[in-house]
This record gives sequence, structure tokens and C-alpha cells, in this order.
Amino acid sequence: MLKPGIARILSLLVVAGCILPAGGRLSAQTETLPVMPLPAHVVAGQGQFVIDGSFNLALHGYTEPRLERARTRFLMRLSRETGIPLWREAQFNQAHFIVETGGASKPVQQLGEDESYHLEISSAQVRLTAPNPLGVLHGLQTFLQLVRITPQGFSVPAVTIDDQPRFPWRGLMIDSSRHFMPIPTIERTLDGMEAAKLNVLHWHISDDQGFRAESLKFPLLQKDGSDGLYYTQDQIGEVINYARDRGIRVVPEFDMPCHTQSWLVGYPKLAAGPGPYHIATHMGVHDAAMDPTKESTYKFIDTFIGEMAELFPDTYFHIGGDECNGKEWNSNPQIQSYMHAHGIASNAALQAYFTARVQKLVARHHKIMEGWDEVLQPGTPKDVVIQSWRGQASLAEAARQGNRGILSTGYYIDLNQPAGEHYLVDPLGGDAASLTPEQKKLVLGGEATMWAEYVSPENIDSRIWPRTLAIAERLWSPQDVRDVGSMYKRLAIVAQKLESCGIDPRAETDAMLQRMSGNGDPEALKVLAAVVEPPEGYTRNDHTNFNTFTPLNRLVDAVPPESVTGREFQQLAEAIASGQASQQQWQQARRWLTLWRDNDARLQPLLSKSSITEELIPVSHNLKEVAVIGLQALDALENHGSIAADQRERDLKTVQAAAKQQATLLDAVAPSVELLVQATKSE
Ligand code: ACM
Repeated sequence: MLKPGIARILSLLVVAGCILPAGGRLSAQTETLPVMPLPAHVVAGQGQFVIDGSFNLALHGYTEPRLERARTRFLMRLSRETGIPLWREAQFNQAHFIVETGGASKPVQQLGEDESYHLEISSAQVRLTAPNPLGVLHGLQTFLQLVRITPQGFSVPAVTIDDQPRFPWRGLMIDSSRHFMPIPTIERTLDGMEAAKLNVLHWHISDDQGFRAESLKFPLLQKDGSDGLYYTQDQIGEVINYARDRGIRVVPEFDMPCHTQSWLVGYPKLAAGPGPYHIATHMGVHDAAMDPTKESTYKFIDTFIGEMAELFPDTYFHIGGDECNGKEWNSNPQIQSYMHAHGIASNAALQAYFTARVQKLVARHHKIMEGWDEVLQPGTPKDVVIQSWRGQASLAEAARQGNRGILSTGYYIDLNQPAGEHYLVDPLGGDAASLTPEQKKLVLGGEATMWAEYVSPENIDSRIWPRTLAIAERLWSPQDVRDVGSMYKRLAIVAQKLESCGIDPRAETDAMLQRMSGNGDPEALKVLAAVVEPPEGYTRNDHTNFNTFTPLNRLVDAVPPESVTGREFQQLAEAIASGQASQQQWQQARRWLTLWRDNDARLQPLLSKSSITEELIPVSHNLKEVAVIGLQALDALENHGSIAADQRERDLKTVQAAAKQQATLLDAVAPSVELLVQATKSE
């Protein structure tokens, strides 16, 4: 869970970012390749490679079962998209797509392995070469993104791509504690990560609200620390194998010494407080903490890490370390006297003592420790990896201290920020920009974080995708690839491709709207849903008595964090307000405003039918009012007319009021209508 202040920090970072002018290193043609992440180097060729019934792909050079499975997955995707045959005989077609793999990658995928590939597409053939299977996996995904419908049929443009990632650590964190995410959800997300060339699943698997991994050494962790929803060790192994098949490492996080309330239900002797403990149901920072002064705590952690180190083969092991409020330490006399006797002057020093002890245990089990930026202290061992979440400064501070780090500040996808804001946050931006070249090498990359306070298996796709593609591009593509307009254009196309591999945020939204309305085709509700957004940050707690049992079934849960229609309407409004709009843009703006104006009459009878939709009555009404004002503003602007001063004043007040949060939703068009009114003259 995050402190509310972070949203402010994030917006400052975004303001600090800038959009480079077009005409950088990449050609205009490259910019329009509908690929995300944009490859490091692209040379356009002549013609196109047509995909038809004669298609086949052959693996040459080094091969292994993982590559065979990648080939099968690739052919199935391609078959679904294009209709190429998959029957046995088709496999005897002469292959015009040759994959040449140099050799094996490491048995357990390592940070910094070569992930490069070379993809050469001509009208006659395709050659994908890579030093090892990791590059092959990436190259296959690039090819799939290039498939398009043309008058000649399905085809891929002729192009030569030399590609490799900018950063070796490109992650997505999934919080399975606040809301349990079933295995198919995790695996589907791994499919999306493969498409986005992300290579680390950071699995936040325990927190106050649930302990979700099976421990055989300490079975009360999952028995008492969860509601029965946890991953068995077999399931965890399955996820790790599934991830490896897609070039993705799995780094577990067992957050300690705080965020541990669920551990303490079954093992209260670990606790600093008197207990008894229950699984937390509310969100936010809890007081529950381990007792860092007892030897028995370290004995427990040693055995536990030993067990989990075997289960999770990755070299890195995340121990959390965030958000200790120290209350249980302050009120425990034994802890206070220990601190006094050992010259431990503060809770931060006590946590540093704990971290240092745990780091030795992690190292004893042949792992490298990772922690949130709270674990960075003057004496933190140099091999500890710091995950920066409270600001970019800690990433730079870590590097100056000689510690490697990854950036998550700016990549908190639970905050409902637009993709364009995440996109401009760079791991080597902010304070890190002033690091020396040697220090910059310590910045390993970044991770999007999918905290799950307000996320369920039902809406997680719409929370992660498509925005995480923008972060994936930031972490993969050259630093000067920063054109937000180009990113959004490509995002729309690549998001559709994600749908063809099973990730379908729009279907999630539609299903939820159908259920909310009890209507198989809730057209009017869809019109409203397309132009509202969840507010940024963590404002929901202010509005409801929210806990882990609260169903996530409201419109705020169903709509994506960023309204595509809202953004497109904003572009229209900007063009109109600045006098640059085409006839088509004027017409589109009018069409939309008319639709929104008339939608209220169709929607209102439906809204009062249930308590879930009842809260939308004023939201729909406001949209109508805003649309009416927008149409009047268009009339005035089109006729070079003006609006009476007092009317204009009232209109501005109305749209500003409509822009305020209502039913935990924001009207995504009200600010643009305000822009239109501002552009009118007053008489
Ligand atoms: C965090 O958001 N508490 C790491």
C-alpha cells in the first residue's frame, strides 16, 4: 500500500519529463511500425511477406523443447489470426521462416543474459537469428505484432530489425495478497508480458491481507494466514515453468518485517505485539510487525527462506521492507530495552539491523536480496538491489552508494494514471540523470506495480493492459523514443493484438456492464462508461467503508483507468479551440456531444433499477449537461459568435462542477468542454 503523497511526487516527475521533437534517430517510417516496444534499430525493406496456406516455420541450429513449444504457440496464434492451416500435412510445407538459434541460455534464466535478436523479413522469406532462445522468443513476438491485413491478404512488411533491450530488468509486480489472483490469471498475464518483452514477474505473494504461498515447513502460514486461497508448491512450480517458457524470471516477494499480519495469525511468536492477530481486512499500513530482537525470529526466517529458495529458482529474493510504522516496536518494553542495550537509536536503525540479519540469511541460501527503498541504509551490503518506490531520488542514492536498483516510482499502475504519464518516466531520468556513466550501469531497469487493493481477477486485465505496454517500451527501447503521440497510436494497435492472445480488457468491461445493468446489450451504459474514469490515486477509501470483502462490481471497477474516447475528444477540443480543426473534426465533436446529450434520457430509466447503478444517476445527468454546454460552445465558435457573459460564467461553473469526482468517477470530457467554453467570446 502506498502513502497518499506518492501521487503528488509522481505528477511532479511527469511535469519534469519532456517530449523530444520528432526527427530523432528513428525514421518516420520506423515510428509508424505498429510495434511495442519499438525495436532498437529498424531498416524498412521493399514489399511484404505474405502469410498463406504454404506457411511454415523451421527451427535450425540449437534447439530444445522450449523452442518447440514456442513454435507451436506461435503457429497457433498465427493460425487464429490468419487462418493458416495447422494440420499435420501443413507441417511439411517448405519453411520460408527460418529460426536460427546460436545456443542454449542459462538453465535458470539470469539477469543480464543476451536477449538480442535479428529479424530479416523479405517478400520471399523470414530469418530470425538469435544467440539463444530468449532472443528467439522476443523476435517471434515482434513478428506477430507486424502481421496485418492487406489487399494481398495477411502479410508482414519487409523490414530488417536488430533489437536488444536497453535495460536487463523489465518487470511487472502482481499483488496476490489483497485479492487472490488465480493461476489462469497469472498465466494470462505472463502471456501479455511475453508480448511486451517484459522479463520479470515480481510476485508479491504475502501481505497483511493474505499469505498466498504454501509452506510445508510452516503450514499455518497459508492455513491460518489465508482464506483458503493460496498457491500450492506444485502450482508455483507450474507458474515458474510457464514463465521460463516465455523468457520471464519469477522473483518472489515475502514482505517483512512489516506487512506481515497474515504470518502472525498462525505464528504469533514472531510478532512484536501481544496479538491475537487476524488476517487484515482493511487496506493501508498496519501496525503488525515481526520482533527483530528475538533469535527465534531469525531461526524461523532462515528455515522459511531455505524452503522458498528451493521453490523459486531465481537468483533474486525480495524481502519487502516497506512501510514499518514502528508502533508495535515502540510499545514493546522488551524491544525497547534491547534497543537501549545495543545502542539502536531509532526504529529505522532497528529495521536496518533486521535487514542486515536477513540479508545474511538470504545470502546463506545463495540468493541476492532485493528490497523496497526503505532497506537502503548507509551500511546496506553492495549486492542488495533497491526497488525505488518513494521517489526517483532513492534510485540515484542507491547507485551513488554502489547498490543496484530498479525503478517503480512512476510505474504504479494502480494509481490510474494515463499511459502517457508512465511513458515519460525514465529510470535514468530525475536524479539518476546526474549519475556518472559507471553509476548509471547500476540502474537495472524498472517494474510496473499492480497493487491489488482495488483489483480483482475480473478487472485486472484492464488495470494492467494496455498501459503496461508503455512502461515496457520505456524499459526496452532506446532512451530517445519518447513521442507520446506515436506511442498512443501504436498502443491502440498492439492492445488489439493482446486481445488475440487472450487478454481482453474490453470484454471484461462489457461483461461487468451487462451484469450491473441486467441487460445483455447495455448500449446506453456503454456510452457513459466510455467517458468516465476512476480518479487518480487512492481516493476510494475516502468514499466507502472499503475492505477486502467489498465487491469490486461498480462502474469505477469496470471502466479502464484511461478513457480512450476522453483523450480523443480532448484532441478534437484542442484543435477546435485553437482554430485548427478540420471539417471532419468539427463533425466528430458534434456527433459525440449529441450522443452524450441524448444518452441520459435512454439511460436514466435503467439506472434507478439497482443500487449498483443508482449512484450513476447524477453522473449521467452531468454528462448531459456538459454535452449541452459543449454543443452551445461549438455553435458560438462556428459562427464566430459569442455567449452572454452571465451565461458563459454559469456554463463554466457547471462544467467545472461536473469535472469533480462523483460515484468515485471522473467525467473525462468535462475538462475538454471547459476548454471549448473558454475559447468562446463573452458579450
Ligand atoms: C509500497 O508501495 N509500499 C512498496
